Amino acid sequence: MIKIAVMGYGTIGSGVVKVIETNQESICKKIGEGIEVKYILDLRDFQGDPMQDKVVHDYQAIAQDPEIAIVVESMGGVEPAYTFVKAMLEAGKSVTTSNKALVAVHGAELIETAKQQNVNFMFEASVGGGIPIIRALNSCLTADRIEEISGIVNGTTNYMMTRMAQEGCEFEDVLKDAQEKGYAEKDPTADIEGHDAGRKIAILTSLIAGQQVDFEDVYTEGISRITATDIMYAKKMGRVIKLLATSRQVGDTYAVMVAPFLLPEDHPLYTVNGVFNAVFVRGNMLGDAMFYGSGAGSLPTASAVVADVVELARHIGRHIELEWRPERLEIADYRQQQGRFFVRAKADRTEIEQVFGTVEYVEVPELSGENGFITACMKEAEYEAKASQLAEIVQMIRFR
Ligand code: HSE
Repeated sequence: MIKIAVMGYGTIGSGVVKVIETNQESICKKIGEGIEVKYILDLRDFQGDPMQDKVVHDYQAIAQDPEIAIVVESMGGVEPAYTFVKAMLEAGKSVTTSNKALVAVHGAELIETAKQQNVNFMFEASVGGGIPIIRALNSCLTADRIEEISGIVNGTTNYMMTRMAQEGCEFEDVLKDAQEKGYAEKDPTADIEGHDAGRKIAILTSLIAGQQVDFEDVYTEGISRITATDIMYAKKMGRVIKLLATSRQVGDTYAVMVAPFLLPEDHPLYTVNGVFNAVFVRGNMLGDAMFYGSGAGSLPTASAVVADVVELARHIGRHIELEWRPERLEIADYRQQQGRFFVRAKADRTEIEQVFGTVEYVEVPELSGENGFITACMKEAEYEAKASQLAEIVQMIRFR
């Protein structure tokens, strides 16, 4: 019998218990033995909950119990999750976490601790919720050098961008609606400013590069400056605006960025709508692949956590090698990357062409007092230099 502990009995932790209860029989067959949740660690007591008797408040009760082989961390945040997870690994227990904040900061170190203890540290649910993207990178795509990984990895903002695109609403209105529906937090900053996506692409890039990418190094723009007018232009261009977390190989490193992009109809991420997430991967042998599904929510995320539990149970007594060295990767300067830019400016066409040369105008007859245009392909640095010469640029969104 495999005995496990769940640290944090909130949305994901309670989902983990539900997944194990619901699919107990098939999960046990896959592990080759029974599985039991022995402890729930939480500050609360959960009077009347069927798991009430399993609740403990001190993580040492779990760390010191030799019967516990696997620990689930679903508390969120860096501390005290880091202290507890480290203690569990040092006590010889394998750990799975859904906590992207923890993995983004301490992933490399916790993998190293797991290696020293001959146990495993897994984190499938930390990116893309229920989508098996981490296992795909670590197990299925190991024959490839990954040239690009680009994803819609934040359900809140994808829901908002979808509503704006489909109904032409303003940002503030869709944010209010997303908050009412429980898709956006009361304080939505981490989602709408791209910080959540930044942590996720830092984790994915660390895995494909085999070394630490600090999320603080990732250039990040959110969606809070996107307006209904931008959506009108996007429609005119046959494109959609999506918040992309993207990483592209540049020599020995990667150019990593989170920002709204204008995607054409034939882009694989064009049709990813609502709260869904998707990750596009390009391997140098495989070519293109896409992973699509629920990026958040109790049961989809718990499904990924429990899949890790099964994997951990199958590898008790054997560390699975995983390359994520702690040395910080110097990521490529995004200003040196090439692209085309959609720009809205109050300037007239003569002024625009004096600065940008030949451009492609986007006509929206309903709008007056501004010009929308698409630049030629140029480096970000070149765009910035030109943009600084043009008065009153009201918007810039990158093309993909
Ligand atoms: N706030 C996140 C999202 C939750 O909207 O995708 C999952 O990480």
